[in-house]
Amino acid sequence: MRTTITLGLVGYGYWGPNLARIFSSLAGASLSAVCDHNAERLEHMRNLYPHADAYADFREMLDDAQIDAVVVATPLKSHHALAMASLQAGKHVLIEKPMAASSKECEELIALAKQQGLILMVDHTYLYSGAVATIMDIIQRGDLGEVRYINCQRLNLGIFQQDINVAWDLAPHDLSIILQMMGESPIMVNCQGNAHINPKIEDVTNLSLTFRDKRFATIQSSWLEPRKVRQMTFVGTRRMIVYDDLQPLEKIRVYDVRVDFPPHYDSLSEFYCSYHYGDCYIPRIEQCEPLLKMCGHFIDSIENHRRPISCGTKGLEVVRILEASDASLKALGGAVVCAEPKKPRMELVHAPFSKAC
Ligand SMILES: NC(=O)c1ccc[n+]([C@@H]2O[C@H](COP(=O)([O-])OP(=O)(O)OC[C@H]3O[C@@H](n4cnc5c(N)ncnc54)[C@H](O)[C@@H]3O)[C@@H](O)[C@H]2O)c1
Repeated sequence: MRTTITLGLVGYGYWGPNLARIFSSLAGASLSAVCDHNAERLEHMRNLYPHADAYADFREMLDDAQIDAVVVATPLKSHHALAMASLQAGKHVLIEKPMAASSKECEELIALAKQQGLILMVDHTYLYSGAVATIMDIIQRGDLGEVRYINCQRLNLGIFQQDINVAWDLAPHDLSIILQMMGESPIMVNCQGNAHINPKIEDVTNLSLTFRDKRFATIQSSWLEPRKVRQMTFVGTRRMIVYDDLQPLEKIRVYDVRVDFPPHYDSLSEFYCSYHYGDCYIPRIEQCEPLLKMCGHFIDSIENHRRPISCGTKGLEVVRILEASDASLKALGGAVVCAEPKKPRMELVHAPFSKAC
């Protein structure tokens, strides 16, 4: 018989209500408590979930022995402390992206979860979307060929965060997808950005990741754009994919387009390359709310004691790249930062405009 996992949610601001909505109706889960400092937010929650206990003090919620797992949906700076306390109290943890404010904090969480035998999962929501699963499937079947590069744009007007820059806010989504598709960590990171509104916090960033074998990815993140854009382009050696997450149904287009190098040639233009223009098709995508799948995966991971897809190590990989992007930004407009995963820390290895690591 299926057991019910009882959850406590901390943080009922902008994003927390989405998690509360899903966990309160998900099979195998029961939302039994919500904690928020803000009395107005708690009052709002009480109207919607009268059966859930409301706490202003997180420690009090943790003392509730009924709670099996804690969901952390507070701003980044509090992720580490809240998640550490939850793991110490013997609760499984689902933590919002980005996992924590530094790779050291992530490593501490991973070590404690392992020591306690508890599930630690990060909400990299898009890894649970039908569109990303379809693209992954196309890549794994070999239909795209080798991934040459991935280009991402995540742009809109606001919401201006007070504690993190736009790369830490928006790029975790792109990074989690890129890491999944590339199947490895980048070897170099380079970031440029500008702070236009709050002089201390970049609201526009351009992040470049270099992978082995000349593969790369670029991520443009902005809170200062007139239109909302959520787009990724995957350029392979055989085909290309454009993924527009704002399209309600036709989110993915696969283009049978490539540049070939013919073995024989009659003209000078053929000597360089020949263009292949084939069909474009729109694959069918499973229609399911990614957040619902993500929450269901957390419950399954606890029940079956299985490592989640977006485990702590995946969260750490994303945070390591964001740390490298900060180091690059601080080095006057985008130095190249070595991002070898096996090295203990990100290391600044070149001055701006250097060519290689
Ligand atoms: N997965 C996604 O697509 C997605 C989307 C938006 C936000 N997020 C993430 O969700 C997290 C929260 O973002 P948000 O926009 O909801 O923030 P928010 O500021 O709107 O809400 C945070 C809430 O947490 C409360 N809070 C803060 N510290 C607390 C503490 N120690 N104890 C109790 N309550 C506390 C605040 O009072 C506030 O109500 C962030 O990590 C963010 O990156 C994820």
